[in-house]
Amino acid sequence: MTHRFSRDDSNNGKPLLEVRDLKVQFPTPDGLVKAVDGVSFKIHRGETLGVVGESGSGKSVTFLTVMGLISSRDAHLEGEVMFKGRDLLKLPEVEMRHIRGKEMGMVFQDPMTSLHPMYRVGYQIAEAVLAHEATSKKAAWGLAVDLLGRVGIPKPAEAARRYPHEFSGGMRQRAMIAMSLVLNPDLLIADEPTTALDVTVQAQILDLIDRLKTEFNAAVAIITHDLGVVAEHCERIQVMYAGRVTETGTGDDLFYRGHHPYTWGLLQSIPRLDAGQTQRLLPIKGLPPSLIFVPPGCAFHPRCPYVMDVCRTEIPTMRLEEGEHAAACHLSSEEQQRIFTEKVLQQT
Ligand SMILES: Nc1ncnc2c1ncn2[C@@H]1O[C@H](COP(=O)(O)OP(=O)(O)OP(=O)(O)O)[C@@H](O)[C@H]1O
Ligand code: SF4
Ligand SMILES: [Mg+2]
Repeated sequence: MTHRFSRDDSNNGKPLLEVRDLKVQFPTPDGLVKAVDGVSFKIHRGETLGVVGESGSGKSVTFLTVMGLISSRDAHLEGEVMFKGRDLLKLPEVEMRHIRGKEMGMVFQDPMTSLHPMYRVGYQIAEAVLAHEATSKKAAWGLAVDLLGRVGIPKPAEAARRYPHEFSGGMRQRAMIAMSLVLNPDLLIADEPTTALDVTVQAQILDLIDRLKTEFNAAVAIITHDLGVVAEHCERIQVMYAGRVTETGTGDDLFYRGHHPYTWGLLQSIPRLDAGQTQRLLPIKGLPPSLIFVPPGCAFHPRCPYVMDVCRTEIPTMRLEEGEHAAACHLSSEEQQRIFTEKVLQQT
C-alpha cells in the first residue's frame, strides 16, 4: 500500500471544515453545562488554526464534537459541522466512525490515554491501518515503521517494537502524531500537543506539524493554552472564553493590534525571556466562570478592567475590524486601539 501524498481537492476553494454556530450543552445533576455556546470558524487545506484559551473554555469539547466523539447521546448539540460538504452532526455513527481516523486524526491531550500501555507502538499504528484499509498485516507494519521514521523517531524499525513506556514524552507525542497521520487524514486536530514537553521539544513538534501539513496537504487545528507557543505556526488564531469565540485574526492581529481585553490579558501573561532574564508575568485576575452559571452579557465582565454597564446585560457580537480580524467586545474600536497602544503594548 502506498501513501497518497497528493489528491484532488473537489471542494472548489471552500473550507475543508466549516463550523457554524455550534452549541454543546451537557446535562448534569448540577445543571446544564454550556461548554460551547455558538462557535463558528473555518479551516482550509494547508492552513493551521490555533485555538487558544484558559482551562475550561470549551476548546477540547468543540473538537471532540467535530470528531463525533461527543454526540447527541452525550450532550444537546446545535449548529452545523460542515466537512467536505457534509454536515457531520447529521451523519450516523457508523459513517462517522469511518471518517474518524481515515479523514480526520486527533492527537489527544493526554498521550497515555490513547496509546495502550500493553501493546507495541508499531502494532497499535498497524491496527489503526487495518481497521480502515484492506491490506496485509505486513504492509500495515511497514507503513507504521515508515510513519515513525517520518515523524523523526530514530531507528523506526526498532522503535516500532517498543512499548509506550519505553518512549520519552517527546517520542510518545511523535508516535501519537504518526498514529493520527497513518491514514493520511485531511484534518489533523492536535489538542495541547506540546504542554508536557520542554521548550526545545515543543518547537520540534510544532515544526514537525508544519512540515506534515504541507506534505499531506492537510488542514490543522492546534489547541493550546499558550498563545506565545503557537502564534508563528498558525495562519489564524481564535481565542475562546467560556465557550464562545472572543477574538479571531492572524498572530500579528492579536499581538500587534489586539482588540479584546481578554486577548490583552493573555498577551500580558506570556512569560518573556529577554537577554536571559525572565520578565514580568501578569496573570489575568480572577478565574474562568462556571459554565453552568455563565455571567450574563459578556462572560468576561467580572474580570474585565474596562467593564461598562452594557457589558453586564448584553452579549457582545463579533465586530469585523480589518481583513478577517474580528472581536466581540462593547468597547469602540477607537477605544480599543487607544488602550492597546497606551497600556498593553508597554507590558508585553
Ligand atoms: N462529558 C462532560 N460532561 C459535563 N461537562 C463536561 C463534559 N466534558 C466537558 N465538560 C465541561 O465543559 C467545559 C469545557 O471543557 P473543555 O474540555 O472543552 O475545556 P478546554 O478548553 O479544553 O480546557 P483545558 O484547557 O483544561 O483542556 C468544562 O467546564 C468541562 O468541565
Ligand atoms: S464587552 Fe465589556 S466586559 Fe466584555 S471584554 Fe469588552 S469591555 Fe470587557
Ligand atoms: Mg482541553
